Amino acid sequence: MARLLITGGAGFIGSHTCVVLLEAGHELLVLDDFSNSSPVALDRVQELSGRSLQGIEGDVRDAAVLEQLFANAASAGAPIEAVIHFAGLKAVVESVVDPLHYWDVNVSGTRALLSAMETHGCRSLVFSSTSTVYGEPDSFPLTETTPTDPIHPYAQTKLAVEQMLSALASTGDWRVASLRYFNPVGAHPSGRIGEDPLGIPNNLFPFITQIAAGRLEKLRVFGDDYPTPDGTGIRDYLHVMDLAEAHAAAVDHLLQSDAPLSLTLNLGTGQGLSVLDVVHGFEAATGITIPYEVVERRPGDVPKLEACPKQAANVLGWSAKRSLADMCRDGWAWQSANPQGYREAP
Ligand code: WQD
Repeated sequence: MARLLITGGAGFIGSHTCVVLLEAGHELLVLDDFSNSSPVALDRVQELSGRSLQGIEGDVRDAAVLEQLFANAASAGAPIEAVIHFAGLKAVVESVVDPLHYWDVNVSGTRALLSAMETHGCRSLVFSSTSTVYGEPDSFPLTETTPTDPIHPYAQTKLAVEQMLSALASTGDWRVASLRYFNPVGAHPSGRIGEDPLGIPNNLFPFITQIAAGRLEKLRVFGDDYPTPDGTGIRDYLHVMDLAEAHAAAVDHLLQSDAPLSLTLNLGTGQGLSVLDVVHGFEAATGITIPYEVVERRPGDVPKLEACPKQAANVLGWSAKRSLADMCRDGWAWQSANPQGYREAP
């Protein structure tokens, strides 16, 4: 087992990945600034796994924090062997409003991390990338060789980091894996950790679970005039626990490699679902009616995104196992037990 640094480990995907990594026996050090996450998540990660982790509050852009973190680990005789890098900004609309902030956190933050890693001889990194690098593709399913066309600053920053990583792997002794997420949803089946967006959710699934919890009234379906079977947008939704398991498999794969390596992997189920498929799936799984109204399309939305996950299966032996019903059941277990997320009920 290895000593790993998890940046952004208190976030939605980070916290679920930490549970899987602790259960696999890894030793974790989590760096998080809690700007879009809660330290309570780390308490619950430790409760669920029955193991402890070391949490450090800090900004991934802060070179002094990074240097101290790597140096302390080394001087304690437990150097960091690999990094899983979740810390970053991920709201598409916000990235359009404030692109420089996204370039600063997502790209300059990653550069600061890579520099600290290089200084301390830690050259294995799993990176949280995104399927939105594909822009508005017209042929499916999407493979890792589908041409990229990032149409907003969020995706542009993620692709820029991918290019930094592949440059390192081509010139130095680095092992890197850029994981292009499709649409992660759901929660740990215990209901103790889950997705806890700040404010009104931008994303479909937490919006639905907050309606079910009585926090929101009605879903606005952004357009039913897309060229899809029921006219609503299609996405490749995958259970966050499947995604967490993919990260564990990816970091193990990098640590086992005795040569430089640069991987780019699509992480999805390969089965796209429409907005109405998700609404009806949630209703069937929970017995809760989700009222909705069709409104105009949301600017920037694409008709369809659907992964070809064959490469992840070939390289990591990973494939998504959980169904829409599992995503809905587990997502509701979290939201119903935590109506206000990690914040105390008002
Ligand atoms: C899904 C579908 C909407 C909300 C997200 C993240 C992005 C990236 C990819 C990681 C679309 C429809 C939504 C609502 C709706 N993740 N919808 N009403 O846009 O695919 O992007 O996943 O990198 O960071 O934002 O996900 O959940 O916003 O939308 O009708 O209130 O649901 O039109 O078809 P999206 P989403």
